[in-house]
Amino acid sequence: MDKLKRTISRFLLSLSAFAFVAYGLSSCAAKGDYTGTEYAPQMYHSVPYEGLSQIQDKEAGNFITSIDGPGEFYTSNPNNPNEMNMRAPVPNTVPRNKNGYTPYRLATEDLETAAGNINPLPTDNPQIIVDGKLLFDRFCEHCHGPKGLGDGLVADKYPGVANLTGLAYQDITEGHIFHVITMGKGLMGAHGSQLSPEERWKIARYINEVIQK
Ligand code: HEC
Repeated sequence: MDKLKRTISRFLLSLSAFAFVAYGLSSCAAKGDYTGTEYAPQMYHSVPYEGLSQIQDKEAGNFITSIDGPGEFYTSNPNNPNEMNMRAPVPNTVPRNKNGYTPYRLATEDLETAAGNINPLPTDNPQIIVDGKLLFDRFCEHCHGPKGLGDGLVADKYPGVANLTGLAYQDITEGHIFHVITMGKGLMGAHGSQLSPEERWKIARYINEVIQK
């Protein structure tokens, strides 16, 4: 009798182990829009409209609640074209960053046009010079030197770094400096990916107002 009990309990144990593994494997069937079997699906599905995902199946998630109407997971906005949750921007919309800057689209060789660009930062805020110096010391000093004389530590090894106080650079505008930082010029590499537009304008102001004075 004992032996029979043991056999049965072993059988049940392996059956439940098999069921568990089979259930686990079935969760891996995710593909396309189907995320596979989910544990606690309410944790993953947003009740408000989700901007970047969209479930158009009105039945989806019906098993979770007993409310009438579309299933719990349905997140399509029927008032928008194609029932999208977000509307496509108006044609010719230009993206801006959080400070209202439009993308900088001038090419490397458009330095002359760029030189005419006006620094949008206010002129009466001394903090801009303070920030500009900090940024210059971090991003430019190792080549251009603390006072812009072209005598940074890197310039020791690689000659050709511009002396920003030199005659040739005396009349360069903040727009010109912004462009050189963004795109690089000649031997100098572009620094646009390392500095936000605001930071570049701050450095340009600092060079114009302090280094070149
Ligand atoms: C890796 C070294 C290096 C770094 C870092 C560097 N520069 Fe330069 N910079 C150069 C060299 C070299 C030149 C000369 C380029 C040429 O004429 O070939 C130059 C030239 C310039 C010029 C003159 C461009 C012209 O019109 O001829 C400006 C302005 C300038 N750099 C600003 C900056 C600023 C601002 C930073 C910091 C964001 C910076 N540079 C960082 C090496 C560097």
